[in-house]
Amino acid sequence: MKMPSEKKQEMKQEILQILKKWNQPELNEQWGLLDYSGRLIFQKDLKSLNPEILAKIFQNFQNQRHFSVENRKSLRKIQPLGNDCLQLETDHIFHRSQLAENFISSGKAAIVILAGGMGSRLGHPAPKGTFPTAPVSKKSLFQLHFEKIKCLREHYGAPIRIYVMTNSSSHDLTLAYFQENNFFGIPENDIFFFIQNEIPVLNPLNGSFFFSPNGQICFGPDGHGGLITALENSGAGEDMKKHGIETLNTFHVDNPLVPVLNEQFVDAHLTQKSEMSTIAIEKKDPLELVGHIVRKSDNHQTLQIVEYLDFPADYAQETDETGQLKFWAGSIGIHLIQLDFLEKMARKLHENPDFLPYHLPVKQIRTQNGLEWGIKPERFIFDILPFAQNALICRAKRDDIFATLKTNSIPVRRHLSDLHASWLRRAGILFPANSQVEIAPNFAMDFKTLQEKIPAGTTLNGPDIFLN
Ligand code: UD1
Repeated sequence: MKMPSEKKQEMKQEILQILKKWNQPELNEQWGLLDYSGRLIFQKDLKSLNPEILAKIFQNFQNQRHFSVENRKSLRKIQPLGNDCLQLETDHIFHRSQLAENFISSGKAAIVILAGGMGSRLGHPAPKGTFPTAPVSKKSLFQLHFEKIKCLREHYGAPIRIYVMTNSSSHDLTLAYFQENNFFGIPENDIFFFIQNEIPVLNPLNGSFFFSPNGQICFGPDGHGGLITALENSGAGEDMKKHGIETLNTFHVDNPLVPVLNEQFVDAHLTQKSEMSTIAIEKKDPLELVGHIVRKSDNHQTLQIVEYLDFPADYAQETDETGQLKFWAGSIGIHLIQLDFLEKMARKLHENPDFLPYHLPVKQIRTQNGLEWGIKPERFIFDILPFAQNALICRAKRDDIFATLKTNSIPVRRHLSDLHASWLRRAGILFPANSQVEIAPNFAMDFKTLQEKIPAGTTLNGPDIFLN
């Protein structure tokens, strides 16, 4: 696009002012290479950024070695979680709690699917939620979640609302995917798609920006902790309030086995008047890449989740006198969070942007020079757990609720098939060994429902068994 001449001077003056604030000569060069519309975007991006905040983030990155010593010091004051958490019964999920049933039926609980990550490890050229994941039907993660939620809506007779957090690159593709699939049978008006905020990726050598192939500053999503500000900026929070929503069940898009609005979990959360509750699983090995749920050794025994990257390997491997892992409790990102608690956290962030830390992983990004390593600042939603009143942990059998799609679809498909095959065997149903098994949510969401639906002794033909 050609720049109208009358605007030229004005724009130049403004960009000179803006560029002065940044001590990055390459910004001037990049600006010079862009056409009019490119310059408008570039200028808008720069105007939206605060050089001091980014400089501080880079400083924190440089100090990380020092911080990791600090980290160890603060971690010295943590203790493992006890074994006394409520065990969720995942084989039999309905009619467990009148309190939870009434609450869910009243529409006061909503679902938030965190799907704003880049999903770069999977190498799938579309949003991760669209990945064909189910072992037989090859339904996507989004479809599996939505079918489950549709069943819950029918079971509770409630228009349970769904909020899907995307990022600016995945948003349109996600929306188009849902439109093509008719929102998997859930009325479009009951779903709210919103984009999380972005933050520039920084050069680990000097804190400068990277530039994308089209010459713009490279940004990345600001971590799932970005939910707090995104609820405010996108209007999703307002929408929740308008619909009388009090409690959010948030989870990661990549786990098709999430126990959505599990009644026992909701019951415990409400009974304890918890502002935030989460589910623990037992780690499968000491160094498994999961967050660790721990308690601080303070008077309140405050709960905290420490990400695997920040958790020293020697702590992760500590055992007690019986040989059991001390830090057994893995976090898998399934939370119940009170909306008013999130609002409180948003206010705190306004008062003090350092209130929640940025974690600073170095990840690969596509720049105008190809693939490069950059610092991707991210906030984590679980960092608000220590501030929650009456925070609560429940535990559940890991194989029943956790099969996550990270780099490769084979383990997750095998996991789903093995789990459903185990239900069939326990129900006394005969089928050929080595069959691929899939039980759709509308057929049975738990073992008890399956057992009631198919009489023991029934024979099913393999090698692909799909109960729908
Ligand atoms: C995550 C957890 C880890 C947990 C493990 C279980 C974090 C930081 N770590 O690790 O504690 O044990 O899952 O599988 O959560 N997302 C966004 N916006 C972002 C970044 C991520 O919505 O800006 C979403 C992703 O789409 C995904 C989820 O958050 O659904 C997890 O993010 P990811 O970066 O994949 O974390 P993991 O390394 O898998």
